[in-house]
Amino acid sequence: MKLEALEVLKNRRAIRAYKPDQIADEALNAVLEAGTYAPTGAGTQGVQIVAVQSPENVAAVDALNAKVLNNPAAHPYYGAPTILLVFETQACVTHELDGAAVCTNMLNAAYAVGLGSCWIHRCKQMFELPEGKALLKQWGLPETLTGVASIALGYAACEQPVAKPRKADYIVRV
Ligand SMILES: Cc1cc2nc3c(=O)[nH]c(=O)nc-3n(C[C@H](O)[C@H](O)[C@H](O)COP(=O)(O)O)c2cc1C
Repeated sequence: MKLEALEVLKNRRAIRAYKPDQIADEALNAVLEAGTYAPTGAGTQGVQIVAVQSPENVAAVDALNAKVLNNPAAHPYYGAPTILLVFETQACVTHELDGAAVCTNMLNAAYAVGLGSCWIHRCKQMFELPEGKALLKQWGLPETLTGVASIALGYAACEQPVAKPRKADYIVRV
């Protein structure tokens, strides 16, 4: 299933309930590739994307985010079978913004290929903790990576949410 670009941008919503089924590789690849084509400051591509899919690693990242939330019983990724982590590599002064652009591309691409997704906060704090640094080391990545954002990704187990009305003064034309 592929949707028109403007339809995707308008209708993508944050999904907060997921089926346990792992997503198809083809869909994951489309989402990841869309991330790599996001704009980055001076075209430096100073972003590292990590796709987390093994149940052990997904559980570890979920628990780490819950720890930052100070609520060990929480499941901040809502049971999603895939978690995408977006890090900045400090390659450009725009590093954090680059990561946000990559994240947004992947959220929209996810909707375009029929997946549910949700931007999940606290990635920076997660990978400042010793447990986060240990995961980076285990994955063969530099411990100097700085978290920007993360994404819960999977097949939605809920109705498509309806967007709130847009605020009246969102746009000023001058
Ligand atoms: C920077 C940022 C951080 C967010 N963090 C979370 C989060 O930790 N957990 C969550 O459920 N949603 C999170 N969201 C999703 C927003 O709550 C959601 O995008 C917003 O309510 C609007 O809904 P929509 O995406 O369906 O338009 C985050 C969104 C952004 C942009």
